Amino acid sequence: MANGRGAWKSKIGFVLAAAGSAVGLGNLWKFPYLTYRFGGAESSEGKGAGGFVLICLISVVAVCLPLMVAEILIGRRGGRNPVGSFRTLRPGTLWSAVGFLGVLGGALILSYYSVVAGWTIEYVWKAALGQFSEYGEKVSDEEVREKWCTDNKVKGQAECDALFSKFLDGFATTEERERVLLEKRLEIYPQRLFAEFVGSPGKQILYLAVFVLLTALVVAGGISGGIERWNRILMPLLLAMLFFLVVSVASLPGAGKAVDFLFRPDFSLLSVEEVLWAIGQAFFSLSLGMGALLTYGSYLPREARILPASAAIAGLDTLVALAAAFVIFGTIFSFGLKMGGQGIGNLFTAIPVIFMHVTGGHVLTVIFYCLAAFAALTSTVSLLEVVVAYLIDERKVTRKKAVILSAVAIFFVGVPCALSFNVLQGFRPLGTTVFETLDYFCSNLILPVGGFFIAVFVGWVLTQEERTAELPEAGATLYRFWLFSVRFVAPVAIVALFVGLLLGKVSG
Ligand code: TRP
Repeated sequence: MANGRGAWKSKIGFVLAAAGSAVGLGNLWKFPYLTYRFGGAESSEGKGAGGFVLICLISVVAVCLPLMVAEILIGRRGGRNPVGSFRTLRPGTLWSAVGFLGVLGGALILSYYSVVAGWTIEYVWKAALGQFSEYGEKVSDEEVREKWCTDNKVKGQAECDALFSKFLDGFATTEERERVLLEKRLEIYPQRLFAEFVGSPGKQILYLAVFVLLTALVVAGGISGGIERWNRILMPLLLAMLFFLVVSVASLPGAGKAVDFLFRPDFSLLSVEEVLWAIGQAFFSLSLGMGALLTYGSYLPREARILPASAAIAGLDTLVALAAAFVIFGTIFSFGLKMGGQGIGNLFTAIPVIFMHVTGGHVLTVIFYCLAAFAALTSTVSLLEVVVAYLIDERKVTRKKAVILSAVAIFFVGVPCALSFNVLQGFRPLGTTVFETLDYFCSNLILPVGGFFIAVFVGWVLTQEERTAELPEAGATLYRFWLFSVRFVAPVAIVALFVGLLLGKVSG
């Protein structure tokens, strides 16, 4: 672009960067976890997640994809950061507040997202050192007994000892007993490693700093020289690693069952709640509602076509989520495992257990955490760029200064989030830790509110000419479908999601 703000060098660069923003930790843990839960994977009737997966796909096509087009459209037409774009399109109105909410959301999401992103680095390291394979030696008999008693809700030391010995005596052969005990050790060890890791304030702050620094280095390189360049390297690597994992898992006995589970439609479990979860998941996973794609869209040249690019971004994001779920379920079903708790920690406690069952699992864990680290970095980069673009366009500072200023500020907000897992664990001014409060506030408030106003702005405020000028590629039918969604379907879906969130029916 002639205004010196920087621009994508190629269309594929933009698609990869935007897909990089969308593909993140949400795809790797939240989607598999939700399909697992809504598919009733643990119930003996062997339900399927196909119903939930189908609603996710419908939400993507009917609600989120049109919204993505709307967001990118504002960015390209406005040619600036979220605040500047609204201001350029409708000067002197309150619309720029929506952009401001996005910039604020970007900074806040980045500060807690970077904490978890930092964990992926430590886990690449742990996996490479082969720490997860050491469970046989590292877990003591006492720990196994404690865990068994907690799992079976046995209280009191004496009773625990007695019942556990009885349990041990119940095995027909020593081999069988050793096998079961080893399995328990494998369950315990990653949880212990994780608890030790997040329990260390020093390490948490260190990794937060490292991740914010990495993000800052990429963003400091500018649009084509930094963000596009790194996404062009990291995204193909990510896809290649995921492909390798899929191929490895495809040869396991549970692979067929995983496909069946993911795609067999079972609508008996369908509920309003599930539909809301599906919308929320699609929304978060596609990075909508806070202007990340808007900002990326502002670097898009006039001749690039928004519709096919958006379809490619949403398609890639969906594909990655499905592939990640396949990898996890394929292994789980092959070895009769369970998924465990629902928190983000799952990505760090369940994955090692899951992969340690596979031959070559050691290599698979290294690959998996590299993949997670890349997925996280390409997302944090897009978040930081929103803040940086705002500072450059509106506050007239240089890119370098903008990066330093915002990275430092975000690091400081990130510190209490990093400490939420250790020294500040008990600090819960609003009932939850600082980390959880920020996540709740951003995912449940800023993103849906932002998404709602983006839809209303494009659907009802922009003129027909303004819209069609940005979408010359859309035929009449496609355009009508899109406009209908942006005007009616998306706002209604978001309001429903919002009400569901407030009533506590769904969360983030
Ligand atoms: N889509 C990201 C994920 O799946 C998370 C996310 C939500 C995000 N909103 C964002 C990332 C905005 C970048 C920008 O993990």
